[in-house]
Amino acid sequence: MKRVILVAILVAFGLAGAYLLVRPAPEGGAPAAADVAEGEPIVAVSVPAPLSDKSAIGAKVFEARCASCHGENAAGKQGYGPPLVHVIYEPGHHGDMAFLLAVQNGVRGHHWPFGNMPPVAGLTSGEVDSVVAYVRELQRANGIE
Ligand code: HEC
Repeated sequence: MKRVILVAILVAFGLAGAYLLVRPAPEGGAPAAADVAEGEPIVAVSVPAPLSDKSAIGAKVFEARCASCHGENAAGKQGYGPPLVHVIYEPGHHGDMAFLLAVQNGVRGHHWPFGNMPPVAGLTSGEVDSVVAYVRELQRANGIE
């Protein structure tokens, strides 16, 4: 009887160990979105219509300078860059200044497995400001405030 209990305990430890090995990454680590194919959007984004005038300008700048990595409508692009329509980038976590700094200095990747963001040259602070307005409008329309 004692041996049966011992075996049961060993099996339980084995299962717990196996779970630790295969469990998904914890929130705030690297949200891998592993089931999304390379180049595909990482989250679903609904786009408010019409956009405010400022956001509409921001959308154009975003398409030209950011979407190649952050995806159409900031929905992310698997293998390239994260969705900015994501709780990680809500105003309380990444304020508007974080956007200006990201554009000016680049970003050392830390939340996602996509590597670093290089600085984006040639944008005025007004243009970055309009991109922020656009991203915030998308965030709000998708329940991220
Ligand atoms: C060459 C690809 C690429 C381009 C182009 C790019 N980004 Fe990024 N961006 C990334 C990656 C990769 C990260 C890092 C994510 C992480 O934390 O792992 C990132 C992170 C960010 C962050 C988060 C900064 C922080 O403090 O964590 C912001 C904000 C951002 N990008 C905004 C922009 C904006 C605005 C543009 C366009 C003007 C842009 N990015 C263009 C790849 C890119």
